[in-house]
Amino acid sequence: MVSTKVSLRVFLSGLPILASARITSRSAIEWGPCEEGEFNTTLPVQCGTVAVPLDYTDPDSKTFDLELVKIPALIQPSRGSIQLNFGGPGFSARGGAVATGSLLQAGGTYDLVAFDPRGTGKTIPTICTDDPLYIGQILGETRASNESDTSLQRLWARGQVDAHICQHLGRGNETAEFIGTAFVARDLISVVDALGEDGLLRYWGFSYGTTLGATVGAMFPDRIDKMILDGVQNPHEYYHAHVDFEGWADSDKVFSYFFTSCIEAGPTKCALAALNKTASELEQDTWDFFDKVREAPIPVGSAILDLLVVKGIVVEQLKDTFLWPTTSQLLAVLLYGSDMEAQAVLDPLLNRAGISPLAGFNFTQALWGIHCGDRIPRLGSFEEAIPEFAKLAETSRLMSDVAASITSHCAQWPWHAKEAYPGDFKVKTKNPILFAGNTRDAHTPIRSAYNVSSGFEGSGILEVNGTGHCALSAPSECSFAVIAAYWGNGTLPSTGSVCEAAGPFDGYTWADVFEAGTATNKTERIERRTAYRWWSS
Ligand SMILES: *[C@@H]1O[C@H](CO)[C@@H](O)[C@H](O)[C@H]1NC(C)=O
Ligand SMILES: *[C@@H]1O[C@H](CO)[C@@H](O)[C@H](O)[C@H]1NC(C)=O
Ligand SMILES: *[C@@H]1O[C@H](CO)[C@@H](O)[C@H](O)[C@H]1NC(C)=O
Ligand SMILES: *[C@@H]1O[C@H](CO)[C@@H](O)[C@H](O)[C@H]1NC(C)=O
Ligand SMILES: *[C@@H]1O[C@H](CO)[C@@H](O)[C@H](O)[C@H]1NC(C)=O
Ligand SMILES: *[C@@H]1O[C@H](CO)[C@@H](O)[C@H](O)[C@H]1NC(C)=O
Ligand SMILES: *[C@@H]1O[C@H](CO)[C@@H](O)[C@H](O)[C@H]1NC(C)=O
Ligand SMILES: *[C@@H]1O[C@H](CO)[C@@H](O)[C@H](O)[C@H]1NC(C)=O
Ligand SMILES: *[C@@H]1O[C@H](CO)[C@@H](O)[C@H](O)[C@H]1NC(C)=O
Repeated sequence: MVSTKVSLRVFLSGLPILASARITSRSAIEWGPCEEGEFNTTLPVQCGTVAVPLDYTDPDSKTFDLELVKIPALIQPSRGSIQLNFGGPGFSARGGAVATGSLLQAGGTYDLVAFDPRGTGKTIPTICTDDPLYIGQILGETRASNESDTSLQRLWARGQVDAHICQHLGRGNETAEFIGTAFVARDLISVVDALGEDGLLRYWGFSYGTTLGATVGAMFPDRIDKMILDGVQNPHEYYHAHVDFEGWADSDKVFSYFFTSCIEAGPTKCALAALNKTASELEQDTWDFFDKVREAPIPVGSAILDLLVVKGIVVEQLKDTFLWPTTSQLLAVLLYGSDMEAQAVLDPLLNRAGISPLAGFNFTQALWGIHCGDRIPRLGSFEEAIPEFAKLAETSRLMSDVAASITSHCAQWPWHAKEAYPGDFKVKTKNPILFAGNTRDAHTPIRSAYNVSSGFEGSGILEVNGTGHCALSAPSECSFAVIAAYWGNGTLPSTGSVCEAAGPFDGYTWADVFEAGTATNKTERIERRTAYRWWSS
C-alpha cells in the first residue's frame, strides 16, 4: 500500500533492497564513547550517528545526523536492536533510554537503541525562539483556561502571537515542516537499515511514542518484526481532531480513584486517610482548594502557585503511583495545614535551584512543532474553537483547563508537516504488534489500546489492572512475563486476559518483581537493579 514511499526511501538512502544483502551487511554505524558528561549513568552506553535526509520528499535534500545512543544487550551476542521512544512529543529519546535502560533490558538479549526525534534534544531544537525575553512572556502568560472568564480568549490570542513569534522572529520557516511524525517514522527505518541486522524494526514506544509506532507500522507493515506500544494514544484524533479528547476520557475517574484508594490503603500508607474524611469529602475539598487558588493565587518565594501550577503538579503525579504517598502528604498540608506549613512544602517545589524555565521551553516548542504540524485541520476563529473547548470541558473537569493551551496553538499553527500518513490505521503487519496499557491511566485510557489494536490485524493487548501512565508504571510479575514472552518469541497474551498489579499505595516496584522472578534468566538483571521507577519527576 505504501510501496512507492518505501522505494522512494530506499532510493534516497542508496541502500540495497535485497533482503539477503541486509542480512549479510554489517552495521554502518560507528559506535563509540558518548560525549564526556553527557549521560550520568553506570550503564555501558555507546553513541553514534546516522545521516538522514532533512526532507524525505526531495531527492536532492541535504542530510543531517541523527544522534543515537545504544545500551548493549546484557547477553552477547545480541539478538538485534530495539528502538525506543518516550513520547511527548518533545522528549529526548536518548535521555529516556538511559534513564530507563536497566528496566527495559527486556530479558537482556536485545540492544536498546534510541535517537532524539527531529525537533527534540539537540536535533533541530529551535523552531520558535531562544530569546529569554519572548520565552519569559510566553511562559509568564501560560495560565489555566478557566482561571477567569476572559482567560480562554487570551489563550487564543496567545496561540496567534506565539505562531507569529515562531514564523517571523524564529526559525520556523526553515525547520517546522521537517519534524513531523511521518518523517520520524522514516528515520526509524533508516536506522534499521544502518544497523544492518535483519532489515526489520523492533520498537518499544510509550504515550505519543505509540502514535509514532502506529504510524511506522502502517507506513511500513512489511518491515515490522516486533513492536510494543504502551500507553496508547488515539492516533486518529492525534492527526484529525482539534483536541486529543480521548486521552482525557478516564482522567476524572483516576483522580477520584486517588482518593478512594487512599482511604482503602489507610493512614499508614496515605496521609490523607488520617483525617477522618470520606474519599468524596477529600476530593470535594481538593476541588474547593483549586477554586480558592484560582481566586487568590499564593505567593511562594519568587514564584506564584496559581491554578495551572497546582493542577499541573497533581496531573503530573497521577502518572506514577510511586508518587502518590508524597502527593497525599502535599495535599494534606495544602488543604488542612497552616500557611507556614504550606510555604515550607511549596518552596522547594516551586523555587527549585538549577531548574531553568528556559530549558523547559525547548520541550514546549518541540511539542508545538511536532504535534501542531502533524495535526491536519485548523480553525479560523475563536468562535469556531468554542465548541471544541466545551467538548473538552465535558470530557474532563480535571484536564480541560490545563489542556486548552496546546489546542489554541495547534488550531492556529502556520505549518503542516511535509508528509502526513494518509491512511486509516487498518493494516496487517508482517508480525503482530502488542498494545499495552493500564485499566486506570489519566493520560492514555485503555480504550485507545483497544481502538488502535482493532485496526492492526492479529495484534494483541496487554491490559494491566493497575494505575498510572503506561503499563510499565504498574509493576507486575504477570506483565513482566507477558513482555518477556513477546520479546522472546513473539507470543501474544490470550485475548481478554488481564494482568493484576499491586495497589497504588503498596510501594511495589520493579525491583520487587525481579526478586519474585518469573523470568527465565534474571541473574544479571538483578545485578543491575536500582530502584526502578517509571516516570521520574
Ligand atoms: C550522577 O548520578 C548520581 C547517582 O544518581 C548522583 O548522585 C550524582 O549527583 C549525579 N551527578 C551529576 C553530575 O548529576
Ligand atoms: C516566514 O514565511 C512567512 C510566509 O511566507 C513570511 O511572512 C515570514 O517573513 C518568514 N519569516 C522569516 C523569518 O523570514
Ligand atoms: C470521625 O468522624 C465521625 C463522623 O463525623 C465522628 O463521629 C468521629 O468521632 C470522628 N472520629 C475521630 C477520631 O475524629
Ligand atoms: C535548548 O535549545 C538550545 C538551542 O536552541 C540549546 O542551546 C540549549 O542547550 C537547549 N537546552 C536544553 C536544556 O536542551
Ligand atoms: C470552570 O470552572 C467552573 C468552576 O469550577 C466549572 O463549573 C466549569 O465547568 C469550568 N469550565 C471549564 C471550561 O473547565
Ligand atoms: C477509534 O477512534 C476513532 C477516533 O475517535 C473513531 O472514529 C473510531 O470509530 C474508533 N474505532 C473503533 C474501532 O472504535
Ligand atoms: C482491578 O483492581 C481493582 C483495584 O485494585 C480491584 O478492585 C478489582 O477487583 C480488580 N479487577 C479484577 C477483575 O480483578
Ligand atoms: C515462547 O516462549 C514461552 C516462554 O517465554 C514458551 O512458554 C512458549 O512455549 C514459546 N512459544 C513458542 C511458539 O516457542
Ligand atoms: C543466565 O545468564 C548467565 C550469564 O549470561 C549465564 O551464565 C547463565 O547460565 C544463565 N542462566 C540460565 C538459566 O539461562
